[in-house]
Amino acid sequence: MRPCPDRIERLPEQYFTTLLARVTAAGPDVIDVGRGNPDVPPPPHVVEALVESAREPTAAVHGYPPFAGLGAAKRAIAHRYATVYGVELDPEREVAFLPGTTTALVELALVLAQRGDRILLPDPGYPDYNSAVALAGAERVALPLGDDGRPDWVGAPRERVAAVYLNYPANPAAVAAPPGVFAEAIEFARETGAAVVHDFAYGDLVFDGRRPESFLAEEGAREVGVEMFSLSKSYGMAGWRLGFVVGNAEIVARLTLVSEHARSGIFVPLQRAAIAALTGPQETVEERRALYERRRDRALAAIPGARCEGTFFVWFPLPDGLTFERLVAEHSVAVAPGEGFGAQGRGFARLSLATQDDALDEGIARLRRAIAAE
Ligand SMILES: Cc1ncc(COP(=O)(O)O)c(C=O)c1O
Repeated sequence: MRPCPDRIERLPEQYFTTLLARVTAAGPDVIDVGRGNPDVPPPPHVVEALVESAREPTAAVHGYPPFAGLGAAKRAIAHRYATVYGVELDPEREVAFLPGTTTALVELALVLAQRGDRILLPDPGYPDYNSAVALAGAERVALPLGDDGRPDWVGAPRERVAAVYLNYPANPAAVAAPPGVFAEAIEFARETGAAVVHDFAYGDLVFDGRRPESFLAEEGAREVGVEMFSLSKSYGMAGWRLGFVVGNAEIVARLTLVSEHARSGIFVPLQRAAIAALTGPQETVEERRALYERRRDRALAAIPGARCEGTFFVWFPLPDGLTFERLVAEHSVAVAPGEGFGAQGRGFARLSLATQDDALDEGIARLRRAIAAE
């Protein structure tokens, strides 16, 4: 075999795979409140739509699906964007249907960056963006976020920037979009020629009466960028691998081309289930949001300096010297250590509210004791 290609050699450690291995090695008595895996199942009518469709013994269901996705699925996401976020989309030109936004965020780097181009990533930010940059052969540049989650645009490079990834509500910093941030991103994109990629994976999970804010609702957004929407968090469907990229028609066309060449589409019953989720009763979206908000309130009351305006994560400072290893060994509780999310994450940790109530409450109690003992 020839040597491993450098695009594979460049891949960073997969943060969550490594973290899970560390938590598993710590043994069964450790409560893991670090992992963001939705614990509430999808609505029953969505499961029903999958099963019903899978029962049809036809080639239209079990044969190759249309490579670029069912028109009805694209119309379904356009319907949701119009009704929930007040954004009109052209389902044929402005919607790409992908197997989850993890796939989307990797393929977006591939269709936007030439080898050696820069991609700006929020710091702290979601670690999988680093993988996308590595696979695209691009250069990762940290875009530090201030306390309110606003990027440091002034310190950002302006040459050779292919894309800027943003994520509000933000994982792990748990901030909602600060006022004006999308307009600032559009201005930066116009000035530099960069594309904006807004990760809206937690779009519906905002608290304290905030309304979900889509990047595409901002004037001029679709001229410079796209937004990723995931069914994982809003509908508890992380294992189903369903997501969309919406917005700029040229970027959508490039992604669709890659889909046709590299993936051959998504299993039709999954697409039917996505349509059921997006167009059926939406009460569970609010129930899920309210459940996470109640859990969030318990975490904020117990952990000093903790913050959460949205997502299902709480971001909090750790006392000096209270490391992941010590939390696990001395207090039997595991969190996601902040340094894995970028240099700015050092000294912080992420707690996941996607944890069953009993385990969450016990995990919070152990954390509170650990912090109080320092
Ligand atoms: C910020 C962020 N973006 C994207 C994803 C990926 O979501 P999906 O399940 O759609 O691949 C996650 C998953 O945890 C996430 O936290």
